[in-house]
Formats: sequence, C-alpha cells, structure tokens
Amino acid sequence: MNIPEILREKVLVALKALEVALPDPGRIQVSKAADLRFGDFQCNAAMMLAKPAGKNPRDFAAELMGEISADDLCEISIAGPGFLNFTLKPAAWADLARSQWASDDLAIDQVENPETIVLDFSAPNVAKPMHIGHIRSTIIGECLSRVATKIGHRVIKDNHIGDWGTQFGMVTWAWKKGVDESRLEKAPLQELLRLYRMASDASKEDEAIKAQCRAELVKLQQGDSENRAIWDQCLALSRKGLDQIYDRLDVSFDHWMGESAYHEALAPLVDKLVSEGFARESDGAVCIFSSEDVKPKADPFKINRDGEWQDFPMIVRKNDGAFNYATTDLATVEHRVNEWKADQVWYVVDFRQGGHFAQLFDASKRLGYDQVNLVHVAFGTILGKDGKPLKTRAGDLPQLDDVLNDAVKAARIVVDEKSRLDTDNEKAELAELIGVNSVKFTELAHHRMSDYVFDLDKMVSLEGDTAPYLLYSYVRSRSIFRKLEGGVELNGDQLVLAEKAEIHLVRMLSRYSDQIHQVLEDYRPNLLATYLLELARAFHSFFEACPVLKSEGRTRDSRLILCDLTSRVLKDGLELLAIPVPERM
Ligand code: ARG
Repeated sequence: MNIPEILREKVLVALKALEVALPDPGRIQVSKAADLRFGDFQCNAAMMLAKPAGKNPRDFAAELMGEISADDLCEISIAGPGFLNFTLKPAAWADLARSQWASDDLAIDQVENPETIVLDFSAPNVAKPMHIGHIRSTIIGECLSRVATKIGHRVIKDNHIGDWGTQFGMVTWAWKKGVDESRLEKAPLQELLRLYRMASDASKEDEAIKAQCRAELVKLQQGDSENRAIWDQCLALSRKGLDQIYDRLDVSFDHWMGESAYHEALAPLVDKLVSEGFARESDGAVCIFSSEDVKPKADPFKINRDGEWQDFPMIVRKNDGAFNYATTDLATVEHRVNEWKADQVWYVVDFRQGGHFAQLFDASKRLGYDQVNLVHVAFGTILGKDGKPLKTRAGDLPQLDDVLNDAVKAARIVVDEKSRLDTDNEKAELAELIGVNSVKFTELAHHRMSDYVFDLDKMVSLEGDTAPYLLYSYVRSRSIFRKLEGGVELNGDQLVLAEKAEIHLVRMLSRYSDQIHQVLEDYRPNLLATYLLELARAFHSFFEACPVLKSEGRTRDSRLILCDLTSRVLKDGLELLAIPVPERM
C-alpha cells in the first residue's frame, strides 16, 4: 500500500469511530498536496461530510483530526475551508526510501489484471525513407510499450508498414523505366526515393502515367511475377534501411505485419461484411454506412456539407474492385483479436487520421469486436522555427536520418566545449548518444497533442529541460562512487534524513511508481519526462545543500544511498523513454 492509501485507511477508520454516515466512501480521497507549503498530502473528507452532518467544516476537520492515529507517520493540520493536511515525518520518508532502495524493481506497483496490449506504431509507408513525421509515432509508441511492459502488461509491438499501396505502383513503373542498379547497391533508399519522385512528378503532369502506375499496382496485387519480384527487392531494401534507423533509435518490434500480410484476407472479409448485412453496395463500391444510433455530429459516418448532414461511409471495396486502407485495418483488428487475443490495441498515429479510426472502431464494434479496447493515441505536428510544419529548403519533409545526423553534429559542438572525455572516439560516441536521444527526449517531453518547434541547438544544450541535463544528472549521481576510496558497503538501516533537500529528494523519488502508472492513463510519456526533470532538479539541490563525501558516518552513508537510489530511478526512467545513459560525460 502506498502512503495516500494508508492515510485514507486511517481517515476511514476515524470516520467510523466518529459514527459518520458514509454514503460514498469512494469519494473520500487522499491526494498529493497541491502546494508543498501545506504538507505532503491532503484529504477532502471533512469538507465533503460536514454539511450532511450539519457541522462546520473546520470544526468537523478538527474533530476528525483528533481521531486519526498517525503519530508515527505524520503531523496533521487543518488548512483553508477544512482540508486535512498531512506532513510526513522524516522517519517515515526514510522508511519509504529504504524500502524503495532495497527493492530490485524500485517499488514499482504491478497492475492487478495484466492485459494483452497490441501496440501499432511507427508503421511508415515503405519504399520511401522515413521522414521527420515518423519520429513521433515511433518514439511515443516505443515508450508506451516499455511503460506498459514495466507494470506487468503483455505487450505485442507490431509495425504495420504500408507495403501494399499506391507508392509501389509508382516505384514499379519508374523501376521499369530505368532503375540505376549501381545506385541501388550503394544507396538503396535514395534510389527508391528517386524512383518514387520520378513517378510522382510524372503522374502529376500526365494522367496517362498516373493510370499506368495504378495498373502496375493492380498487376502486383493480382500476383504478376515480374512485379512481385520488384516488390520483393524494394521491400528487402527498405527493410534494411528501416532496421538501421530503428537500431539507431533503440526501437524494436515483435512483428512486421504490414498491409500486404492481410491481402488474402480482404476479399473473404468484404464478402462476409456484405452477406451478414454490415456493408452494402453503393455506386459500384461496397461501403459500411452509419448505424444511425447517434446524433450526426457524433457520428463518424456522417459529414456536414453546406449545412446538411450527408452519409460519409467507410469504403471497403472501391468501384474498381480494389480494397483500401480501411479494409486492411478491419482485417488487422480481426487478426489481433482472434490470433493474438488482444484486450487492447493502441494506434499511435497522426491526429489527422482521427476520422478513419473513429469509423474503424465503430465498425469493429458492430462486427462483434466489442470486448477489445481500441484506442487512437493521436499526436500533433512538428514545426519549423517559422511556426509552419517542418520542411527542408526544397520544401520536402526532412529525412529522419538527416535530422539525426544534424542533431549529432550539434551535440558534438557541446561535447567539444564541455565534455571531460579524453579521446576523439569517446567524444564521437557521446555526441551520437546525446544527439539522437535529444531528439527523442524532446519528442517525449511535449504533450503528444501539442505542436512543437524543432530546435536542435536548444535540445542538445546542457541547460534547460533537455536530455543532456538528465544524462548529466545521472553521471553526477554515479561519479561520486568513483571518488570513494576503498569502496563502500551501504546498509539501508543506516538511512536517516534531516535536511529539507534530502526530504524533498526522497519525496520525488517516492513518486516514481505513481508517475509511471499515470503515463498510461492518457498515453502521456511527457508526464514521465517532466517527472524525471523534476527529480533531477531535486537531486542537484540536494547535492548542493548536502555535502556527501565531506560528511561522515551515518550521514555520509545515508547520502550515498540517496545518490545511488537517484541514479537507479533516473536510469530506469530514462530506459522507459528508450534513452540509454552514459557512465561518463
Ligand atoms: N502507414 C500509415 C501511414 O503512414 C500508418 C499506419 C497506422 N496503423 C494503422 N493500423 N492504420 O499513414
């Protein structure tokens, strides 16, 4: 049980002793105090129950306070209109720190009912290199998977790549016109991109070429062997390029069930949808229409055109017989529920696909997949310094690899200026770590729905709410152990806390488990990122106020334990953000 729960129990016992009627005990809460000046935790019981009991809230709070026995744990006071405030005693904080320090998993609570969660993230359309827009899904998805795994869920990471769509018709068309074999060897992704652009530019100007590209796709989908061979090559090359980037980012998948994996399932699926009455023909296409169960405004199958609500169906087979994104996604839900026994599926995808997912989730429910919790974990846009979506000078989305290289360059400048490392090799390694992980941390430190400005110099700086600041905090918390002559044998029983800064550090450390759980309440890695920054700040304050190596005996050992515990929480928390730590900087 954590401290708020223990205090809540004590409040409930006291209320019982006072014979107060408790219509809804669930509403009695002990939570983190809004303002630390008033204590560590607060309880709303007196304010909630005074009126029905015909009492003045402050008097009632005083009565309640007298009845609560928590002398060993905390001081109690009354604040404002009748809040009970609890200030933990140093010995209670020391107990908390001691058990967290002794725990191999840092006293992180495990979920009571582990679930199987499929995480659908990254999922680029391949045959094109990944661009900056892919960073958000990739990094948020990886973080959520680590957090969910940490607290006991079974997580299946699936990279649902777009490997069956229009871009393959285009690449195939251009490939046949003139693939450059030597470039394909040397820089495969660049060559694929060149082919893609060639086809894309040509088909913008010429309707006939557009039709030819489309025909190449149809041939591929119908099993033409030449097109299939080109596709196989494209896919293998793309996969190689993607693997390199994922390695660099420390991201991995359990499956790569791309769109092509569902190809064979689509025709039978649409037949079933029609025969069971979920879909019907309309203008030659097969569509799922509204269930007419909700108001048009809340109905993803309706659209307002010129002030009038019209049908906006989900098309599962186009009038030319082709299946599309939505059809594949329905097949994907079937697979994940039937084969993988998913309790939840989280789709980490751009907010602009909100309409698609609203239709998909509604249709899935109607098809009988109503037990699985389908969630669209949406995110916003990365902006350039001009406040518009980030673009290269040529007007394209910057390629992810280039962005990471630029970040490493910017990091190298900081490393050359500030690092204590000796060799060029070490510095290069550190710059790679700082550069790549600064980009990742910046992503995770923002609310996923907010648009943020991509500013490399700011993100690699040692000052501010940055990755380097956190990495440096970790290194600082470890370096003290290297300075210890003759090593040290620490004993948790020795732990005593006296200074304010020590207590505040422990207060922050003790919140770790809760913070991790909160991330999943609304799929918000930024809560963990912000927490780690706050913890790092508490650590630096402690470090400045409380000498460690210059103190002696029990005080020294206690402070060493705090350094050790801080370093472990920082490392563990950063690992959840998929950020590895250096031992020296
Ligand atoms: N490939 C898609 C895109 O780049 C994202 C796929 C997301 N996952 C899904 N199951 N729809 O837009």
